[in-house]
Amino acid sequence: MTAQKEERLVTLEEFIIQAQNRFPGATGELSQLLRDIGLAAKIISREVNKAGITNILGFDGSTNVHGEAVKKLDLFADSQLISALERSGITCMVISEENDGIVKLSTTGGKYIVYLDPLDGSSNIDVNVSIGSIFSIYMREPRFDNAVHEQDALQPGSKQVAAGYVLYGSSTTLAYTTGLNVSLFTLDPSLGEFILCDRCVKIPKHGNIYSINEGSYNSWDVGLKRYIKYCQEEDTESGRPYSARYIGSMVADIHRTLIKGGIFIYPHSKKYPNGKLRLMYECNPLSFIIEQAGGMATDGENRILDIEPKAIHEQTPIYIGSPENVKHVMDFLHEFAEKEPEFKI
Ligand code: AHG
Ligand code: MN
Ligand code: MN
Repeated sequence: MTAQKEERLVTLEEFIIQAQNRFPGATGELSQLLRDIGLAAKIISREVNKAGITNILGFDGSTNVHGEAVKKLDLFADSQLISALERSGITCMVISEENDGIVKLSTTGGKYIVYLDPLDGSSNIDVNVSIGSIFSIYMREPRFDNAVHEQDALQPGSKQVAAGYVLYGSSTTLAYTTGLNVSLFTLDPSLGEFILCDRCVKIPKHGNIYSINEGSYNSWDVGLKRYIKYCQEEDTESGRPYSARYIGSMVADIHRTLIKGGIFIYPHSKKYPNGKLRLMYECNPLSFIIEQAGGMATDGENRILDIEPKAIHEQTPIYIGSPENVKHVMDFLHEFAEKEPEFKI
């Protein structure tokens, strides 16, 4: 019998320290911040897993800044993440989907600004379908007075220093990037640790899956309608019809797109003239991840990461995924915008 070389498990903590050690001048603060988020993610994951057996599940009766019903777990995730960030004192402000304005932390001198979607896909909580958390980290511009201003948080996605997501699915997965590849971890519940499973995830250049809420078909631009019809046409050579997959939790739809390839679209429509998804804590962080994995993300015209934000809760349309699929849908959008502009909303 030949002795098999045993793969050594690498935990999220170890991985972060190893990465930090490769930069001799690093202060360790960003590493600490990522570890804090990792700890909050474990606590949220535990609570998500028992949501059905405790009374945490269900509406808490209030609505968030977008007028959407807030579920109890959203608030739980929000407070866990914010208190984890408060603990290490290196974050000066947090912007969260669940809070109208900026949340100033007690350490106003902290040099990081963190955006959060504490619980993404929350309409799926009650039906035991995957949900997630999203984070996006910026460096604060130095100020003489050390005061914390909302304006400092309005930076384009290209300035993110790190971003990631946690997916509470059939297992709990954490993905993050600091601008050098995307690393993927899976939570081993018996160890209580995130274990490294891929240090350099790459998205397929092309995929045979499209992901969009097709219920809104009648209110799309004609170019998008034609693209979706193209996805559905039969053509064995190009692998069509493509498969339709739509979970309704952006984190879960993007995670599948990262691993299997294809495209995820949330366009503008009559109901959502600027798109529905939030630029700063949904689209920017997930676009950073997808680009780092070799994919593309646009609003139909421009790269998502180049958008200059005007408000912390602003929305944007998004076309994101495998580079060939994203370029292809953009061709359709451009072609039909020129040919049949009267069909544009
Ligand atoms: P959230 O639960 O954080 O408000 O996000 C829900 C978002 C996103 O996760 C998902 O892709 C999208 O809403 C689904 O919207 P539709 O139900 O309009 O398809
Ligand atoms: Mn969300
Ligand atoms: Mn949310």
